[in-house]
Amino acid sequence: MDTTTAVPAPVASTASVATNASSTSGTAVAPGTGTSSGSSTSSGASPGTGASPDTAVASALTASATTPVKVAVVVGSNREGRFGPVVAAWLLRHVRDHAGFEVDVVDLADVDLPTSLSYRPSESTRAELAKVTPKLAAADAFIVLTPEYNHSYPAPLKNVIDWHGPEWHAKPVAFVSYGGLSGGLRAVEHLRPVLAELHAVTIRETVSFHNAGALFDEDGAHRDPEAADAAAKAMLDQLAWWAWALRAAKRVRPYES
Ligand SMILES: Cc1cc2nc3c(=O)[nH]c(=O)nc-3n(C[C@H](O)[C@H](O)[C@H](O)COP(=O)(O)O)c2cc1C
Repeated sequence: MDTTTAVPAPVASTASVATNASSTSGTAVAPGTGTSSGSSTSSGASPGTGASPDTAVASALTASATTPVKVAVVVGSNREGRFGPVVAAWLLRHVRDHAGFEVDVVDLADVDLPTSLSYRPSESTRAELAKVTPKLAAADAFIVLTPEYNHSYPAPLKNVIDWHGPEWHAKPVAFVSYGGLSGGLRAVEHLRPVLAELHAVTIRETVSFHNAGALFDEDGAHRDPEAADAAAKAMLDQLAWWAWALRAAKRVRPYES
């Protein structure tokens, strides 16, 4: 894990690649491991419990702003011969260069979760979950890196999402996508309502790579990086803002799902 010490950057930005989709949510069901996340823990004062709400909020915002955001980058392709690692390396360079993030990687190629969900996972499944669940639970924010498969996102990505519940709650999720003509944008738009059901907040700004294979050279460097670099900065700025705000809010009042 890389660690940076600078504060998050709650800076507004305007670069845009994709639009946000609205979602409605029904009754929450949380299958998976039963592992609780940090999303509903509270270390601060709540309105009505002593400290004035304004003071509690100000103090939570300050505390949140001086603590690096733990971001988990979820690499959503596990295909043999996948292109994903090239885009992942590009993304990780940007996250590490951006102030205020501590980054961890959840690479689905390193995890073999069964597609049959269980409330009583076998020992071998628990061993696989142990590679993922603690990283998701510890994260303040996520970046999901997804290719597009048949106008949507890969099955292993849906599987890891479904194996978890509270680990996603009240946390921001940004997307980097890649693919053929569509640049993975349809995969991203399919992910938004899924993650809304899991009480996550998806970030408007995205980075997408159309015909991704042609955009990077043999060393993994982007051939014409200016627009992608600007899009990455805009996305990371927004992710940092949402992580800062949501983390502070949870200190003042635990998130209830
Ligand atoms: C099963 C499959 C389906 C695909 N479907 C689409 C698609 O619908 N739209 C698109 O733009 N690209 C599509 N592609 C191209 C992939 O997005 C592209 O090859 C990408 O690099 C795959 O990511 P990966 O190499 O990390 O697995 C598809 C590729 C595969 C393997």
